[in-house]
Amino acid sequence: MIMEQANFRRLSTDSSEINEAASHLRRGGIVAFPTETVYGLGANAAKQAAVEALFALKQRPSDHPLIIHVSGLADASSWAKLNPLALRVIGALWPGPLSLILPRRPAIPMHALGAQKTVALRCPSHPVARALLSQFSAIGGKGVAAPSANPYGKLSPTDPDHVESDMRRMMYAHASRRLRLSDPKLPDCWMIDGGSSDAGIESTVLDLSTDEPRVLRPGVISREQLEAVLGMPIPLIKPQAIEAKTQKRSNLLLPKASGTLLSHYAPNKPLYVLDQSLLAPKLAELHQQGFRRLALWGVEAQSLDAYEFEISLGLGAVPDSPESMAQLLYRQLRSMDESEAEALIVVLPSPIDMLRDDKGWEAVIDRIERASYATKHGLINPKALAKSDPVGHDMALPADSDMIFEQFEQPLQSPQQTPQQSAPQQMLPAQEAADDLDFDMSFDDLGANP
Ligand code: TXA
Ligand code: MG
Repeated sequence: MIMEQANFRRLSTDSSEINEAASHLRRGGIVAFPTETVYGLGANAAKQAAVEALFALKQRPSDHPLIIHVSGLADASSWAKLNPLALRVIGALWPGPLSLILPRRPAIPMHALGAQKTVALRCPSHPVARALLSQFSAIGGKGVAAPSANPYGKLSPTDPDHVESDMRRMMYAHASRRLRLSDPKLPDCWMIDGGSSDAGIESTVLDLSTDEPRVLRPGVISREQLEAVLGMPIPLIKPQAIEAKTQKRSNLLLPKASGTLLSHYAPNKPLYVLDQSLLAPKLAELHQQGFRRLALWGVEAQSLDAYEFEISLGLGAVPDSPESMAQLLYRQLRSMDESEAEALIVVLPSPIDMLRDDKGWEAVIDRIERASYATKHGLINPKALAKSDPVGHDMALPADSDMIFEQFEQPLQSPQQTPQQSAPQQMLPAQEAADDLDFDMSFDDLGANP
């Protein structure tokens, strides 16, 4: 039987190709693009078919809300009510690796929002992402829903070649599934090759939908930075807290969101993250279980003297700064996973309990604990090494009125309309509004991304 497959295209960062990509998005196509954190897989957040295709391609449950990427304050304020706290962090940290959860406006397209009353907004600082989003906005688009460009639950891609191979794999899997299921048809899927992502892990997700700000996903912007900007302590709502006995109650308080799942960002093979002191017994155990080929990061050669392991990949020392570790983390886990290894071992530079309590390391430890959660809790069979496809999910999305999204998709009424006019002025203290709403006009004056 012939598989009907959408076309893949790899674009350069020439402005003509970025403009083409913006038009492709606007029409309902899918475009992967670089951001300063990881690559995103973008779709027009106002187009139901495009968002459905995105969920289907990633095999992501349709009730997990996506982050809407916007070009600036005017587009942000068409999705959400920007409260004073939001304006303060936006002024200090946008464009940049920070996603804000805000109360959503009533009549907006809900396709990417997972039926939440809130919306996640992010204005990335990567020059290619900014060029793409500005052009998308200039041709009447309001926001690009963009999860990381990997199959659901897997490692986020930080390099263009990883994006291309993940996309081709997802497109192929989608085409095969469509022989059997009623998955939506895929539009053509493009990617912009903008080199490697800088930060290497995802944005921080800051919930500002209530008057008690909290971080739902630690990320590139640390809680210390957020606390300095907002002048108050900001708790981290750890996924562990969700899994405890209070799960049912917590579910009412927290949305279903992949960023809060215990197992996520995971390689396919078993991953053991260890303190140096636990390495010898773990090696003995793995050897006894019949493991023979390992990929190692942060393991000194002499630790292996007692065993006859074959080393499929040895990555040397683990960086001792969280920023460098974040930059390398997904890239290294991916190459370890793709090696001939039967299991992956990472030894951290200090005991994990110490690093866990260090706000600078919070995001890296969060990712590495989730990447190794399934192995640690025996949720994957360590000897089942087949690279499995992510499982299928119910893709039903609530039907939305076409009228709402057509209205929403209208290009800005007049070219003279300024961000001031389209923003919810009544919500802002006058002084703050005057300062902050200049945002779109003075992006570059806001300074470099931290
Ligand atoms: O760095 C990033 O944020 C990357 C790049 C591409 O921008 N994007 C990304 O998207 O990581 P994704 O879909 O993989 O993660 C989105 C996370 C969810 O896991 C969830 O935690 C949170 O954003 N989220 C989205 N909408 C939410 C909402 N309404 N309430 C709470 N959390 C939400
Ligand atoms: Mg993701």
